[in-house]
Amino acid sequence: MQEVEGKVAFITGAASGMGLGMARAFSRAGMSVMLADIDAEKLAAVEAELKAAGAEVASIRCDVTEEQSVFAAAEETIKVFGKVNVLCNNAGVSVGGLTEELSQKDWDWVQAVNQQGVIYGLRAFLPKIKATGEAGHVMSTSSMAGLINAGPGWGPYNATKFAVVGIMEVLYSELKDFPIGVSVLCPGGVNTNIFDAAKHRPEKYGELDDRPIALNDIGDTLKFGLDPDVVGELVLAGIRQDQFYIFTDPRARIWVEKRFDRIMQGFNWSRDCEVLIAADAPGTVWKTKS
Ligand SMILES: NC(=O)c1ccc[n+]([C@@H]2O[C@H](COP(=O)([O-])OP(=O)(O)OC[C@H]3O[C@@H](n4cnc5c(N)ncnc54)[C@H](O)[C@@H]3O)[C@@H](O)[C@H]2O)c1
Repeated sequence: MQEVEGKVAFITGAASGMGLGMARAFSRAGMSVMLADIDAEKLAAVEAELKAAGAEVASIRCDVTEEQSVFAAAEETIKVFGKVNVLCNNAGVSVGGLTEELSQKDWDWVQAVNQQGVIYGLRAFLPKIKATGEAGHVMSTSSMAGLINAGPGWGPYNATKFAVVGIMEVLYSELKDFPIGVSVLCPGGVNTNIFDAAKHRPEKYGELDDRPIALNDIGDTLKFGLDPDVVGELVLAGIRQDQFYIFTDPRARIWVEKRFDRIMQGFNWSRDCEVLIAADAPGTVWKTKS
């Protein structure tokens, strides 16, 4: 979507970090922005900041774990701006803990925000984006943890971020005949407030606790991470250039290559495994017949 001026964007997790970076970049580029977040207080401050800078923005408190809340936010966006062209499913949370030690509510919360929230967003907004008949774009924030194993204690986060990559890859194929671009943002370390994630844990997912968001030191390095405003500009460039995978740290390719090396090793093992060869299974035939 090369021409962004005059377009309307809806962003979740817009009161902080990368969502706020996107809101700033989009409004600087002449887009109208509906800011959505569970944190009403921060949302009001951010709306005031952007309006003071001359941006055309509005805000709505939205809990992406609630289907009704996301659909109501979509209706409100149309009411305020008359249309919606760009969706950024960006809200996300994490909780650290070993797979068997995390409570079911920990798992449920991270899945509800990071995965179900994306699904609600797509179901609520895609029909409205299509209905404009204009160019549009749909972006969801995954993570490098959507492509590689982030290490012990990252189970719910890893699982949900892999899911987001899968959902967006499918969407890319589903929208190929529409003027709607699709992107998945896979950030490395970005200096945001994600450490405060537990503050935004809805009551239904249990007590706010002081579990760390990471059991390893990945979390500590975030304060040396990229400026979230840079990520906002990067996402804007990705939308304009119709870029599917958006990475914030080009160095991270080595981890993806290593993961795929391990996957290829698995194929080699299967190809050479006597069980499949004895069964004359497809893919091993050339070996038995030659
Ligand atoms: N910070 C990083 O290094 C990093 C790396 C990879 C991916 N990410 C992803 O980037 C996205 C943005 O996170 P961030 O790092 O900017 O963190 P952040 O905490 O600064 O911003 C996240 C925002 O989401 C909001 N939020 C939380 N629960 C919500 C809910 N139920 N409904 C609506 N809003 C909710 C929070 O209030 C907050 O304003 C997330 O999806 C996160 O998983 C972050």
